[in-house]
Amino acid sequence: MLVKDGLKIVAVGHCVPKKIVTNDDLSKIVDTNDEWITTRTGIKKRHFVEDETGCSLAIGAARMAIEKSGINVEDIGACVVATVKADYLTPSNACIVQKELGLPQDIPCFDINAACSGFMYGMQIARGLLMQSSRRYALVIGTETLSKILDMTDRGSCILFGDGSGAAIIELSDEHRFFGDLGAKGDNEVLVCPNNSHEDRYVAMKGQDVFKFAVSTVPASINRLLEKAGVTADDIDYFVCHQANIRIIESVAKKCKQPMEKFYVNLDEYGNTSSASVGIALSEMDEKGLLKPGMKIICVGFGAGLTWGGAYIEW
Ligand code: UT7
Repeated sequence: MLVKDGLKIVAVGHCVPKKIVTNDDLSKIVDTNDEWITTRTGIKKRHFVEDETGCSLAIGAARMAIEKSGINVEDIGACVVATVKADYLTPSNACIVQKELGLPQDIPCFDINAACSGFMYGMQIARGLLMQSSRRYALVIGTETLSKILDMTDRGSCILFGDGSGAAIIELSDEHRFFGDLGAKGDNEVLVCPNNSHEDRYVAMKGQDVFKFAVSTVPASINRLLEKAGVTADDIDYFVCHQANIRIIESVAKKCKQPMEKFYVNLDEYGNTSSASVGIALSEMDEKGLLKPGMKIICVGFGAGLTWGGAYIEW
């Protein structure tokens, strides 16, 4: 039997915490202002957890995707959750999601950490698992509560990030071609969060170095995906980049000689939600009716690791 090697995104969902934190709110606790954050990043607000957890957000996003897909959870053959900071060291967020959603027990459920590239890593891992599964669908989630590990005295990093979760139900397909591009450039200087329980446990970042990594890595990943798919940038309907900084997305658009209208942007509303950002963006685009069958989409994430993860997807 030939295994299908394309991938269809059957449905997407997202969930963000209720609490909204504006740039003005941050300017009351750290030496910053709305004008600087808006012009240097494009971010206007972000959502921070209060009662919510990484798992509760993941479950919210997954429920939305499952409801939209109309599938039976019995047909889910893998649950992969991408996250930087799982709620527990163990069990994984994926096992909590499995329990709460009543997913089958004879399927793999586990977390991965590829930082802000996590959703794209997760999708490709889940695709591989489906090739060995007797079940039809996989659940991929990116979920983050980065507000818990932000140094709220460091204006260079705390203004960037937000909490949230994005989810997708995927299946293997003959009709929807899929190409992936995953990579890493091991580095523990540029973007680090130590695993300590008390002091020194916050995200620390050399912002300009991450910026430079992103504006060279994302266009290169896009070009490799175009080549693999045998299409040009003009053939792509939407580019969905990790939502870190509007200036990064503008630079990518310029390097790819594509109009900004083809780049979905929601970082003004959510900030950088790390592994959740691409999933949240796809879910919002779907809700707005922007995604039509047959559309060609390229998604690219980048972040700590350093990692990058891209995919060419046919909707
Ligand atoms: O998922 C991946 C995660 N990370 C990223 O994607 C980060 C990528 N990098 C960036 O987005 C940008 O580098 C930042 C937004 C983090 C910083 O922007 P920048 O244009 O690279 O600013 P900078 O670090 O060069 O700082 C310029 C000035 C400095 O002041 P002086 O030394 O020129 O007086 C900073 O102290 O801006 C100051 N500054 C701020 N001022 C007000 C830095 N952060 C702030 C702030 N509010 N929040």
